[in-house]
Amino acid sequence: MDNELENNAVRMDEAQRPAPPQPGAENVQEARKLRPLPDDAVIILPVRNVVLFPGVVVPITIGRQRSRAAAQHAVRMQKPVGVLLQRNKDVEEPGPDDLYWVGTTANILRYVTGPDGSHHVVSQGEQRFRVLQFMEGWDFPVARVQRLEEHSETGPDIEARALSVKQRAVEILRMLPQVPEEMVAGLDNIESPARLADLIAGLMEASVEEKQAILETFDLKTRLDKLLEHLSRRAEVMRLSHEINERTKESIDAKGREHLLREQLRTIQKELGEGEDTTAEIAELEKAIAEANMPEEVEKQARKELKRLARMPEGAGENSMVRSYLDWLVELPWQNPEPAAIDIVEARRILDADHYGLEKIKKRILEYLAVRKLNPSGKSPILCFVGPPGVGKTSLGQSIAKATGREFVRVSLGGVHDEAEIRGHRRTYIGSLPGNIIQNMRKAGTRNCVMMLDEVDKLGAGGFHGDPGSALLEVLDPEQNATFRDNYLGVPYDLSRVMFVCTANVLDTIPGPLRDRMEIIQIPGYTEHEKLQIARRYLVARQLDANGLKAEQCEISDETLLSVIHDYTREAGVRNLEREIGTVFRHVAMQIAEGVKTRVRIEVEDLPPILGPLKFESEVAMRTAVPGVATGLAWTPVGGDILFIEASRMSGSGKLILTGQLGDVMKESAQAALSLVKSRAQELGIDAAQLEKSDIHVHVPAGATPKDGPSAGVAMFVALSSLLTQRPVRSDIAMTGEISLRGLVLPIGGVKEKVLAALRAGITTVMLPARNRRDFEDVPAEAREKLKFVWLERVNDALAAALSSETVDSAA
Ligand SMILES: Nc1ncnc2c1ncn2[C@@H]1O[C@H](COP(=O)(O)OP(=O)(O)OP(=O)(O)O)[C@@H](O)[C@H]1O
Ligand SMILES: [Mg+2]
Repeated sequence: MDNELENNAVRMDEAQRPAPPQPGAENVQEARKLRPLPDDAVIILPVRNVVLFPGVVVPITIGRQRSRAAAQHAVRMQKPVGVLLQRNKDVEEPGPDDLYWVGTTANILRYVTGPDGSHHVVSQGEQRFRVLQFMEGWDFPVARVQRLEEHSETGPDIEARALSVKQRAVEILRMLPQVPEEMVAGLDNIESPARLADLIAGLMEASVEEKQAILETFDLKTRLDKLLEHLSRRAEVMRLSHEINERTKESIDAKGREHLLREQLRTIQKELGEGEDTTAEIAELEKAIAEANMPEEVEKQARKELKRLARMPEGAGENSMVRSYLDWLVELPWQNPEPAAIDIVEARRILDADHYGLEKIKKRILEYLAVRKLNPSGKSPILCFVGPPGVGKTSLGQSIAKATGREFVRVSLGGVHDEAEIRGHRRTYIGSLPGNIIQNMRKAGTRNCVMMLDEVDKLGAGGFHGDPGSALLEVLDPEQNATFRDNYLGVPYDLSRVMFVCTANVLDTIPGPLRDRMEIIQIPGYTEHEKLQIARRYLVARQLDANGLKAEQCEISDETLLSVIHDYTREAGVRNLEREIGTVFRHVAMQIAEGVKTRVRIEVEDLPPILGPLKFESEVAMRTAVPGVATGLAWTPVGGDILFIEASRMSGSGKLILTGQLGDVMKESAQAALSLVKSRAQELGIDAAQLEKSDIHVHVPAGATPKDGPSAGVAMFVALSSLLTQRPVRSDIAMTGEISLRGLVLPIGGVKEKVLAALRAGITTVMLPARNRRDFEDVPAEAREKLKFVWLERVNDALAAALSSETVDSAA
C-alpha cells in the first residue's frame, strides 16, 4: 500500500473526523445532506480508475466535491458507500448513464487528508450490488440497490477451477520481484472459491474494463473461468518478458565486456606498434596458399578461411585459431614428389654399413625396395620389425630412409589410447591440433618419407575415446590412405606415397586387422659373437665419439668387451651393452682430462672398479646343486631367458602347491607333470605310499613376474623326478618342451630366443623337443657350434640326459 498514505493516515475517531452537523443550522445544504436514506439506498461513490471487489482493501483518491461530500457523509453516518466505476473517466459530473450499474459496497476504514490537501479513503470491499434506481435530493449520488448474496456453492467443477486459479496466481507472484512469501502463503490459506476469485481479481493487473467484466460475472464457475484465462495469458506474458530481460541483460553484458577488452587490446597493440601489419600478413598467407600446390578442394577451403580471417576484427578470439589452421594447411607438404630413384646396390651398401649381420632381414628389405623401384605406385605391404628391445628395429628403419634417400620420421604409438592422438581434434576445441600422423608429415616436409610407427604392439585398446587401432588401420590401408581424414584439417590428405615401417616387441598384442596388413620380420636377438662384432664395429666408435675420445687414446680388448657382454649385461639386444661401454669410456675420458694419463688400455680386471661387481654370475650351478631344481627356458617379450623350477616335499596329504604367479596353463602343466611322475613311480624307484603322505610345493622364481605357457612341462617333470628320486639335475643343462600325460614331449615356440638365452647363461647342453628340429636352422651358427643339443621324443629321454646318477641327501 502507498506509504505516504499510510504515514499521513490518522485514526478516523481523532481530529480528522469531519465535524458533526451543527444542530439548528438553517443551511439548505446541510438539510439536503441530512435527509435520511431509504433502507435499500446507498451513497454512491463514483470512481474513475478502480474496481473494488468484496474483501479487498484499496485506497481511493477523491478529488471531486460531490464525492467528498458522499464519503464524508458516509463516514458521519457510519454507512457504507457503493463504489461504482465510471464508464468514461474523463466525465467530471457523471450521471446515471456514465456509470456501470454493478459495483461493490465498501466500508471506509480511514479518511485521510494529505499534506497537499488531497483527500483519500481507505475502503474495504464488502458486497456486490446492482443499481435499481438513482435517486435525487442529496448533495451526492444516491441509488436504490439490490445487494447480491454470494452463493457458497461448491463442487468438483468449482474446486478444480479454484485450484488452477490459485496455482496460476502463485506462479505469477513468484515471478514478481520482492513479493513477500507471506503473501503467497496467504493466498494458499483462502478456502472459499468466491473469496479467492474476488481477492485475485482485485489484486491482479488488468484494465478496469476487464476487472469490471469479472465483477459483473455473477456465476462463480464462469467467473473462475474468465479469471483463469486472464491469469494464464498474464503468466505467459510475464514469462516471456522475463526471458527477454535475461537475454538482453546477458548479451549486453557479453558484448560490453568484449568491446571493452577489444578496446584495451587495440590500445596495447598500438603501444607496441603492432596491428598494422595484419594486411601484410594476409597478403603473405595468400601468397603461401598460392604456392603450396594444394589440391583444389584444400585450396578452396584455405581461401575460404583466409577470407574469414581478413574480415575478423583484430584480436578476436577466433583470429589466432584460423591463423594457425592456415599455417598448418600452408606448411603441410602437398606437392606430388618425384619418385626417388632407388639404387639397390647403394641401398645394400648403406644397410651393411649401418648394421652388422641380420643377413636375412637385409635381404628381405632389399627385395621390398626392389619391388618398389619397379612399381613405385604399387601397393606394397607394410614392413613390421618384431623383436626384443635394442636389436636395431628403429635403426633399421632409419637405414631404409637413408638407403632410399627419404626423410625419416618416427611416430611413437606406445600408450596411445585416444583416437584423437592419431586423427587429431576437431577445430572447435581451443588449442586443438592435428593428430600425430599429420604432425609428422609436416615435420617430414615431403609426402615421400619413411614413417616409422614405433611400438604398434603398445597401442591402447579402443575405449571411450574411439579406437586408435581403427584409425591406424585407415592410415596403413593402401585402399584408404590416399584420402586420410584428420579431424583438425577437415580435408583429405594423401598418405599413399609414405613408406610405413612398424616396430613391435611382441606379435600377440598387435591388433589382428593391423597385423594382417603387415609383413612381419622377426629379429630374434644376437649371440655373444655377434654382439662382440657389433660392439667392435659400431658401438665402440660411437661411444668414443660421444665421449670426445680419439681411437688412439683408448684401447679395449676383445676379452674386455666379452666380459662386459657376459658379466654386465644379459639382453637380446645391444642397448645395455652400449651403455656400459659408454660408462667405461667416460671413466677413461676423466682420466685423460685430468691429465693422469694420455693413453688408456682397458683390461678385464679394470672393469669391476668402473662398472661395479659382476651383475650376472652364473647362478645355474649354484641353484641346481640340490635335487628338485631344474633349469627351464622361457620366451619373453624381451628375448629368451632361463628360469628355475623348484620343487620341494613336506609331509601332508598328497596336495600340490603352486606359487610364483603361474598362469592357468602353467599350473595345469605342473599338475600333468606330477601325475606323470606318479604314474611312473615304480619305474623311477619312488615309494608311492610315501608320496601319498606328502605335499609337493612347486615354485618358480622370480615370484613377482607373471609366467604362463605349457613349455615348462619337461622342466617341471624333471624337477619333480629329481626331488622324488633325490638325484640332482646337471647344472649345465637347460630344457624346454610341453608334455603329454602319456609322456610324449610336444613342440614349443621361440626356439631361437631360448637357445640364445641358454648360451648367454653359460649352459652347455640344451634339451629341445624332437619335433622342433625343423626350427634348428634358425638358430645362429655360433650357438649351434657352442652348444650340445639333446632332442627329446619322450620324457624318459630328458631324465636320462639330465639327472645325475648319484643321489644326494635331501638335507644337503
Ligand atoms: N645389427 C646391428 N648393427 C649395428 N648396430 C646395431 C645393430 N642392432 C642394433 N644396433 C644398435 O643398437 C642400438 C639400439 O637399437 P634400436 O634403437 O634400433 O633398437 P630397437 O630394436 O628399436 O629397440 P626398442 O624395441 O627398444 O625400440 C642402436 O644404436 C642401433 O644402432
Ligand atoms: Mg625402437
